[in-house]
Amino acid sequence: MNTESKSRSPVVDPASIPQRRLYTGLTMPAVGLGTFGSDHVSPSQVAEAVEGAAAVGYRHFDCASVYGNEPEVGAALEAVRRNGINREELWVTSKLWNDKHAEDDVIPSCQQSMGDLRLKYLDLYLVHWPFPNFHLPGCDVSSRSADSKPYIHADFMKTWRKMEELVDLGLVRHIGTSNMTIPKLKLVLRDSRIKPAVNEMELHPHFQQPELFQFVVENGIHPIGYCPIGSPGRPERDRTPEDTSPTEDPVIVKIARAHGIHPAVICIKWAVQRGQTPIPFSINHYRANLEGGAGDPLTGEEMHQIAAVDRNCRLIKGQVFLWKEGQTWEDLWDIDGEVTPA
Ligand SMILES: NC(=O)c1ccc[n+]([C@@H]2O[C@H](COP(=O)([O-])OP(=O)(O)OC[C@H]3O[C@@H](n4cnc5c(N)ncnc54)[C@H](OP(=O)(O)O)[C@@H]3O)[C@@H](O)[C@H]2O)c1
Repeated sequence: MNTESKSRSPVVDPASIPQRRLYTGLTMPAVGLGTFGSDHVSPSQVAEAVEGAAAVGYRHFDCASVYGNEPEVGAALEAVRRNGINREELWVTSKLWNDKHAEDDVIPSCQQSMGDLRLKYLDLYLVHWPFPNFHLPGCDVSSRSADSKPYIHADFMKTWRKMEELVDLGLVRHIGTSNMTIPKLKLVLRDSRIKPAVNEMELHPHFQQPELFQFVVENGIHPIGYCPIGSPGRPERDRTPEDTSPTEDPVIVKIARAHGIHPAVICIKWAVQRGQTPIPFSINHYRANLEGGAGDPLTGEEMHQIAAVDRNCRLIKGQVFLWKEGQTWEDLWDIDGEVTPA
């Protein structure tokens, strides 16, 4: 049962939430609600959280077709609008799943998400992963599809041309990438007519990705940070013994004690203040996260201390996207500075 307030006057005034100005000149709230319930939070629980979160002041919702709950989230967003919040006040993101990269699939897939979400346009549509490799939601990390492919830039650009067409058609206001690397983004920036407005990427105090963060910012692309709390609720199959937890980091715990708030909220404050847009998932703590993101900042010294706890610990490794035997998940992330050869 959701423990958050659903009163009609928001606890956090949406006007007090920091905004990110994208290169189009439009603005996006700097804290969003993640909606990936994975295998432990049902679509109806997520939908309930969406409604409750809007009631406390959230205006930004991060959705995706693969989360398997867009129809329920769409019904919640419709209820939110019935309660007097205009469509123009909301920011809704959705994402193209990996089995829909083919040119003929991009526009219908976006339209399917728009229909499920009950929206006439999306604020942002992302290519969820740069690999067109299908795997069933919830499958084990050792699962591989027989026709898996590496990143092939020419193929990605065919998908991207359709993403650009979505903007031309007025169906989406921004397009963006997710789970990209600097070498891949350099190619996309070189060849795109409409460049990505955002890159959604894993970002938390134990995985700060300073080079990619700096690269996207310098190129006018806004970083949206997923797993901002270190995804403590992710399934066992997505964990490895090397994984660390930012909410258990002694520095974060000490700062949280000094502020009298949960370490998770320190992660949100740090993210907002650093300049990314965190999209924490929550069915039980979303109010605290929004209050934290919109509330008093951390001190310069606290920001400095958190910058020093980075452990380069990627939690979402993407193993299911590997395309040939003998590879490790690092091959997906171009750590040698160029796109990993096929
Ligand atoms: N683009 C991509 O490829 C990609 C990949 C992964 C995720 N995402 C997006 O990013 C979102 C967030 O990532 P995530 O869900 O993996 O991880 P996350 O937001 O880092 O962690 C969510 C977990 O933290 C708990 N939590 C949240 N706020 C808390 C607080 N103040 N105190 C204590 N616990 C708190 C939640 O529990 P309660 O529910 O009990 O509050 C939930 O179990 C997803 O929902 C999805 O929208 C995108």
